Amino acid sequence: MAVKSGSVSGCIAFVAAFCLSLIRCSFAIEHVVGEAAGWTLPSFGHVNYTAWAANHTFRVGDSLLFNYRPDIHNVLLVTRSDYRACSSPNPVATFDNGKTTMSLTSVGSKYYMCGVAGHCGLGQKLAIMVLPAESGSPVPSPMSGGPTGSLLAPGISPSPSKGPAAAPSNSGTSIGCALFFNLMIGVVGAILNSSLQL
Ligand SMILES: *[C@@H]1O[C@H](CO)[C@@H](O)[C@H](O)[C@H]1NC(C)=O
Ligand SMILES: *[C@@H]1O[C@H](CO)[C@@H](O)[C@H](O)[C@H]1NC(C)=O
Ligand SMILES: *[C@@H]1O[C@H](CO)[C@@H](O)[C@H](O)[C@H]1NC(C)=O
Repeated sequence: MAVKSGSVSGCIAFVAAFCLSLIRCSFAIEHVVGEAAGWTLPSFGHVNYTAWAANHTFRVGDSLLFNYRPDIHNVLLVTRSDYRACSSPNPVATFDNGKTTMSLTSVGSKYYMCGVAGHCGLGQKLAIMVLPAESGSPVPSPMSGGPTGSLLAPGISPSPSKGPAAAPSNSGTSIGCALFFNLMIGVVGAILNSSLQL
């Protein structure tokens, strides 16, 4: 009797851990803009923010991290037309502390640019498409009915073959989660099995 109740509580503990890991893994992926290059002039950092964005899947609940030198760059959240024009007389928001975290709280296109004169025109601009929060499916699906390709990179000649969700990314996190899920499922199965045998 004591052994059996021990197994049951162990099982409950693992199920709880599994649920927690689900929450943890499906929430809050932080996308470091430009990876190691950070947020800089593309020619200086050898980075292409259009290509970077196309290589990532952004979901509600994720965040962007812009790393930059605050003495020479900033981050503006802008409208689509300002993004296209590289002109931001009235940005939606301005950030200049060198390390800006941008929470992605809603679905749709988001536009960012550096507000320092000339930098946007040199390519220091970023457009992303934010998809709904993950619903358990490992395969990202584009928003239904939206011309996501053209929304992704307005003002830049589109490459029609690549949508915002074309390439799986965030691979470190995803692989870590998948391994952890498999491990958890195996452990829970073994515990259930052993408690049934008793
Ligand atoms: C950046 O990448 C996009 C998409 O891959 C491409 O269309 C564009 O030509 C690139 N820009 C530069 C300056 O290489
Ligand atoms: C896109 O992701 C692939 C695979 O992770 C990587 O090899 C490639 O360098 C990435 N490209 C960009 C522009 O980040
Ligand atoms: C359950 O236990 C049986 C007998 O010990 C074993 O053959 C089987 O592989 C176990 N199944 C799982 C899922 O661990």
